[in-house]
Amino acid sequence: MNPSELPSLSQAPSERHAPIPGWILGLGVILSFWAGGYLFFYSGGFRGDVYDAGQITWGPVSTGPVAPPDPKVIGKRLYTANCAQCHQATGLGQAGVYPPLAESEWVTGSKNRLIAILHKGIAGVIHVKGNVYNNNMPAWGDGAPVPLKDDQIAAILTYIRSDWGNNASPIQTDEVAAKRKALASMTNPWTEAGLLAIPDDSATPPPTTKSPAATPSTPTPPSKK
Ligand code: HEC
Repeated sequence: MNPSELPSLSQAPSERHAPIPGWILGLGVILSFWAGGYLFFYSGGFRGDVYDAGQITWGPVSTGPVAPPDPKVIGKRLYTANCAQCHQATGLGQAGVYPPLAESEWVTGSKNRLIAILHKGIAGVIHVKGNVYNNNMPAWGDGAPVPLKDDQIAAILTYIRSDWGNNASPIQTDEVAAKRKALASMTNPWTEAGLLAIPDDSATPPPTTKSPAATPSTPTPPSKK
């Protein structure tokens, strides 16, 4: 081999470390600040519940008075996400499969029974507005695949009691919480008989199955909101 083809020894790599150019250091500092700021504003505090409607508690803070979130607005959002696939956005359900919530005696009647239904679900025959359904409704409380929290259930129920012509009183978070505790040991879904055994705390009890002639009554003159 011709020695002139060998790499020149005079260009052997040096051991000395070249200093990092200042502009790269500067860029690094700027990027770090930007990334830190981005995380601060958009991390949501690394909280899993940050996307829960009405609970935006992180991010740039507005100084003006903040209106408390309207449970009906939140309830509608949660209803759309969790319930509408079966009961439909119209609240009318699907004939023979999913019972209606609009003008349902279970929805506008006893709070105790309605809250119980949400916590544990229903299995088997149930009568709604004079029609028979024999299906299953999943539980939404403890034991559900994705359990809803007390304030979420309260918001949904407040919403479904007030839309589609329904005009029943709102449901409070502590009412839902109390029922969650009371039903903690219950593992099976409700049956209609079980639900009817819960003391009715409404003025207009759901018609029993023996009075199919009962029509949705309108005892109070419609009070417009
Ligand atoms: C997978 C479909 C499905 C979903 C999702 C669902 N339900 Fe139901 N729901 C049913 C079925 C089916 C019944 C009747 C159960 C039976 O036949 O035993 C029912 C019954 C009910 C009843 C009592 C009967 C009536 O019509 O008034 C209420 C109240 C109710 N659901 C509310 C809700 C709410 C609120 C949600 C959302 C958190 C929800 N459901 C989500 C299927 C569903």
